[in-house]
Amino acid sequence: MDIDQIREDTPALKEITFMNAAGSSISPECVYNGMAFILDEESRIGGYHAHAKYEQELEIDLYASLAQLINAKPSEIGIVENATIAWQKIFYGLATKWQKGDIILSTTTEYGANLIAFMHVKKLYGVETLTLADTEFGEVDTTAMDAQIESLKAEGKNVVLVSVSHLPSNNGLIQPAAEIGKIANKHNIIYLLDACQSIGLLPVNVQKIGCDFLTTTSRKFLRGPRGNGFLYASSKMLQTFEPAILDFFGAELDGANDYNLRKDARRFENWENAYALRAGLHAAVDYALDLGIHKIWKRTQIVSNKLRTAIAEIPGMHIADLGQKQSAIITCYHETKSSKEIRNFLEEKNIMLTLAGDHSAPWDGEKRKLPEKLRFSPHYYNDENDSDIVIEILKAAVK
Ligand SMILES: Cc1ncc(COP(=O)(O)O)c(C=O)c1O
Repeated sequence: MDIDQIREDTPALKEITFMNAAGSSISPECVYNGMAFILDEESRIGGYHAHAKYEQELEIDLYASLAQLINAKPSEIGIVENATIAWQKIFYGLATKWQKGDIILSTTTEYGANLIAFMHVKKLYGVETLTLADTEFGEVDTTAMDAQIESLKAEGKNVVLVSVSHLPSNNGLIQPAAEIGKIANKHNIIYLLDACQSIGLLPVNVQKIGCDFLTTTSRKFLRGPRGNGFLYASSKMLQTFEPAILDFFGAELDGANDYNLRKDARRFENWENAYALRAGLHAAVDYALDLGIHKIWKRTQIVSNKLRTAIAEIPGMHIADLGQKQSAIITCYHETKSSKEIRNFLEEKNIMLTLAGDHSAPWDGEKRKLPEKLRFSPHYYNDENDSDIVIEILKAAVK
């Protein structure tokens, strides 16, 4: 990887040490330029005409690129406002078929917004959510998962969904998505993968993982703009799945009293869209594809593992990451200094990071009862100098 060129593509990296890709990443200039180009066209010829002029890029090429990124078909991709709405449109669509006593299986590190939806369907329909057991390292224990499903079946329970956050945002865990997929597929249970923190960071192949649905956002490790995300719905699911809400893009009126559902995954979309944001997403995904997602992952692992090791060596600092192999999310805390105080100190020195509280994965928070953590999320664009700066300033902050 040509790191000098990559840093040239994102000039702001000269001004700051950016370590918040898991929050909202800094984008390469092509993302801004892609958005500005469409905005400019819209301001000159109007939104509808600009859309018609760039239909090939916005309606065809973008879907092909997103599909390539996750090894799906373009017809299996839908673009929506963010990862949460992508997830909700799938979840609440599935929920229309659920009955009292049905079971959802999820993980101790599931994303906080998803937990609210679990509680919501419990209140609405009496559907219960159970957590899968973890291994001693924190990942889902897939042997125990298989046994748990067998025993639920023996009790006559109907498991309607396996819902997993691939990489939680509150620690460096990587859930074994493909192994979980094997068990879910074996038992014919629908599998929804929240890949919000993994897309753009590591290879995600929906065929290998065996998920029925996947949801993600644009602004994190993919380095796209804020305000959009996308989903994958497998061709098999699309044969029968009806979203819980539809407008006349997701479905076409058939006369005045009937409608026909769109055949592809764009049935999850709305008629009105921010096309400038889509142009930004397009630039971001093509940028990642050009660099190569395997190369991105290889480089980011080196950068993040090195930084995690160096943080662990600072007296009083504790790493809070779970998992045998970790993502580029590094969480840590100091024995006596509050994370807020340390974060403020670092930010004053132009190091951009964030705090990881329990709200993003409340069940994990409840289980481990750790103090509020610092969260560093470096990416492939960070260099040795960035790591050295972080370590030097962090040492000064906790002195
Ligand atoms: C694991 C995970 N899932 C879902 C989301 C929600 O993404 P969005 O804010 O785009 O809806 C986040 C955001 O931080 C996340 O970390």
